[in-house]
Amino acid sequence: MKILTILGARPQFIKAAPVSRELRKKYEEIIVHTGQHYDSNMSDIFFEELNIPKPDYYLGVGSGNHGKQTGEMLAKVEEIIVDEKPDYLMVYGDTNSTLAGSLAASKLHIPVIHIEAGLRSFNKKMPEEINRIMTDHVSNYLFCPTDTAIENLKNENVHENVVNVGDVMYDAVLYNKELAKEKTSILTELELKGKDYYLITIHRAENTDDEEKMRNILESFSKIEGKKVWPIHPRTKNKLKGYGINIDEIPGLEIIDPIGYLDMLTLEDQAIKIVTDSGGVQKEAYFMKVPCVTVREQTEWVETLENDANILVGTDVEKILDAVNKEVNPTYKEVFGDGNASAKIVEYLEKH
Ligand code: UD1
Ligand code: UDP
Repeated sequence: MKILTILGARPQFIKAAPVSRELRKKYEEIIVHTGQHYDSNMSDIFFEELNIPKPDYYLGVGSGNHGKQTGEMLAKVEEIIVDEKPDYLMVYGDTNSTLAGSLAASKLHIPVIHIEAGLRSFNKKMPEEINRIMTDHVSNYLFCPTDTAIENLKNENVHENVVNVGDVMYDAVLYNKELAKEKTSILTELELKGKDYYLITIHRAENTDDEEKMRNILESFSKIEGKKVWPIHPRTKNKLKGYGINIDEIPGLEIIDPIGYLDMLTLEDQAIKIVTDSGGVQKEAYFMKVPCVTVREQTEWVETLENDANILVGTDVEKILDAVNKEVNPTYKEVFGDGNASAKIVEYLEKH
């Protein structure tokens, strides 16, 4: 049995690492990298650190508007499907690479396996929401990370082969957390002791593409007391440059280039709190039991909101500050499975 896996963006490399490891025990896997993310610290570093097999195809699509980027991927993935004749095509999450892969396969009647299916923010202005809905509705196997995701699909009349296997990102965290402690020296490099800084990541289009929102977010960061570390996504860096905003002067703020996964896990684990708009980082904060503040109006990861483990604040300066300064004492539940999502996916595929 041959599975064609489509990857393209940073979080997909991380999600694919545990799944690919399990998949290859039973099946032949061909990896296609669309090239959506291409800087070495947004792509190569993850393949190296996480031992993800080298892609069999690199499409080199790169950046561009949604139509051009998705369209180019669609045409190129279609050609590969015709040549490789896979039995299944596997996609992850909600990026343009996910949409292109699932569309190409479904039109050629190749069954689509969607990992991290069923997530919804109920905000169709987000590019990710369109990608999720479209992908879920052409998928044949929908592996969900939570009960909420199952419920969302039920409400859209998607029933067949819908399974809650838990979250593959939890598999990745459990597998790499100890390794991260051994292998990274990021705290020393940044002259941090641990639990003496806030970790920031901001990259979602809904924030970065709105100058006023970005100015609010930055104003709140300038008012957070103490050290703040921000590995900045290239999208955000480019947007801020375009707005003529210089963040070098914000007191206590250390801007660094995007970092590898092991460094990131260490920085997450040792942060006082995490302030983010990332989907993956919200979950990792939960897995690591580090309080999180989410700078968005909605989250797909509603389970994390219980007991202030994650506080959803939008982009209002005062709300961000109040949440960052709030003393919280969350309790954490096993709502993302038991860390064996990847094995469960393969087991389900074997049986069905
Ligand atoms: C994409 C996903 C988003 C996901 C994010 C993960 C879509 C619609 N969005 O957003 O859901 O949360 O990946 O990080 O698929 N750039 C570089 N170097 C790179 C990659 C990007 O400089 O290696 C810059 C380019 O200026 C590019 C911009 O970042 O235009 C945005 O990249 P793109 O892949 O289009 O979207 P992301 O914002 O990364
Ligand atoms: N991440 C990383 N280095 C960074 C920033 C993030 O390794 O500099 C990891 C992070 O730990 C998580 C994933 O990238 O596993 C999240 O990806 P991102 O925030 O880009 O996208 P999203 O999850 O919002 O789609």
